[in-house]
This record gives sequence, structure tokens and C-alpha cells, in this order.
Amino acid sequence: MSGVGRNLRGFSPLYDTQGEDEETKSAQTYDKAFVDHEIYERSIVQWFSGVSAEVNIEDSELAQRNNVSLSYGELTPQALTKLGRRRFLDLRNCSVLFDLGCGVGKLTVQAFAQFDNIKKVVGIEFSRRRFEKGVIALKTNVVDELKMQELEHSKTTYLACRGNRTIELRHGDALSTQDIEDADVVLLMVNIREDHKARAQSLLKRLKKNARFISYTYLMEDDEIRARPKSRDSFSCSWSTAGHAITIWETL
Ligand SMILES: C[S@@+](CC[C@H](N)C(=O)[O-])C[C@H]1O[C@@H](n2cnc3c(N)ncnc32)[C@H](O)[C@@H]1O
Repeated sequence: MSGVGRNLRGFSPLYDTQGEDEETKSAQTYDKAFVDHEIYERSIVQWFSGVSAEVNIEDSELAQRNNVSLSYGELTPQALTKLGRRRFLDLRNCSVLFDLGCGVGKLTVQAFAQFDNIKKVVGIEFSRRRFEKGVIALKTNVVDELKMQELEHSKTTYLACRGNRTIELRHGDALSTQDIEDADVVLLMVNIREDHKARAQSLLKRLKKNARFISYTYLMEDDEIRARPKSRDSFSCSWSTAGHAITIWETL
């Protein structure tokens, strides 16, 4: 394994193999994001070690009032590497990724660290406590400086820039995301209650052509969501040793 990616604050550039099918290439010329995936995956485990997804009473009360589910489970770092492959979310061909319901921010941070072609990564979380833990993990392990930013549509946002790339953690309701049109990839790994389904569907209708998204909730009954199932597979997660079956959708 090469040293690329060991100094993650430095984020060494990945090899210039964008657009090639990583699965047909030899290990030597393979996309570095995938060759070095174990480094990123281990880093995520380290950076978030001891960070629990526990919420406090204020979070629970606010969630109850808004009928938001704070139920928690994680896709593993290995699952994000696998999802990154061309036949799934194709993260090597992604400039903007939204992680809606980002929990403590593991997938958000991993996407930013592992795929340096992604120019903007945004994680949005309803629970203030989880959001704040994500901010601390990001600040402690990944970036040198985090700026607080006021956005109209988010209660609090922390933003970090690395060259021309940005990572943002927002505290707020992900289903009210105003700039979703920018997204190439959306992770909507949220337990969406029945009465919020229409809001989630409205969000997906605004995605641009060829955007990819995944969700726990089946939202495709709405004919106005113009998307096709791109692929389906099982991805490792914290709640099942067998993994969780996920359909990857691509907008038309
Ligand atoms: C199942 S966890 C997924 C965590 C992470 N994305 C992952 O896959 O590892 C879902 C998260 O979405 C959050 N959530 C639920 N509804 C939300 C909403 N409307 N806006 C923002 N976050 C929400 C929950 O608080 C929880 O942290």
C-alpha cells in the first residue's frame, strides 16, 4: 500500500484515472481512492472513535414536535467505498454530494477525505448533538480551520475549505434543503415518516439529470420523480451482519 493518503490533513492528490473503470484495472494503476480505501476506512474509525450518536432531551423533544425520526444506524466506511464504484454512485464522477441525515458525519467526512474530485460535500443533521459531534470530529481530525457561516435555510453551518473544495456541516431539517439542485449525488439515509414522504419526494424531483441517490425509504411511487434503478446490492451496515440491500437510483 502506498503512502498516499497517510497524511490526511495533506490530502495527497489521487491518481489521474478519473473516468476509467476501476474494476478493469490492475491494482497498480487502480484509482487511488479505492487502492487506499483501507487507509480512509481506518481513519474514519479512528476519527470517530468514542463518538456516540446519543441525543439529548432537547433533541428528542424537538424531533417529537416535528415528527422527525432520530433513529440511528450507520453504513460502514467499507459500504461508502463500495458505493463509490462506477456501477453504484460513481463518486469519482461527482462534484457535489449531499448527505441528508448525516448523523455524526462519518459518511460526509469520508466522502470529502477519500474522493478529492468532490468539490463540495454537505452533511445535514436534525439532531444538534450529533451535528456538534460531527463538527468536533471534523475540526479535530480533518481540517485546520472551520468557519461558522449563517445560512438562511440552516440553523447553523460550519464550513471548511481546502483549496477549491469545501465541506459543510449544517444543523437543520434536510428535507428543507434549498440548494439540492447542485447535487450530483444524494445520500438520503433517513427514516422518513409517512407524513414527510411528500416533502422527500419534492426534494428528489428537483434533482438534476443523471444525479444518483439512495434512500432507506421507497419514494418512487410519485410518477413525477424521473429516475431509473441503476443497480442494487447489499452494503455493510451497523445493524445487520448480512448488510442492507440498497437500490441506487439515477435521474433521467
Ligand atoms: C439512520 S441515520 C444515518 C446516519 C448516516 N447517514 C449513515 O448512514 O451512517 C439517520 C440520521 O438522519 C437524521 N434525520 C432524520 N430526519 C432528518 C431530517 N429531516 N433532517 C435532518 N436529519 C434527519 C437522524 O437524526 C439520524 O441521525
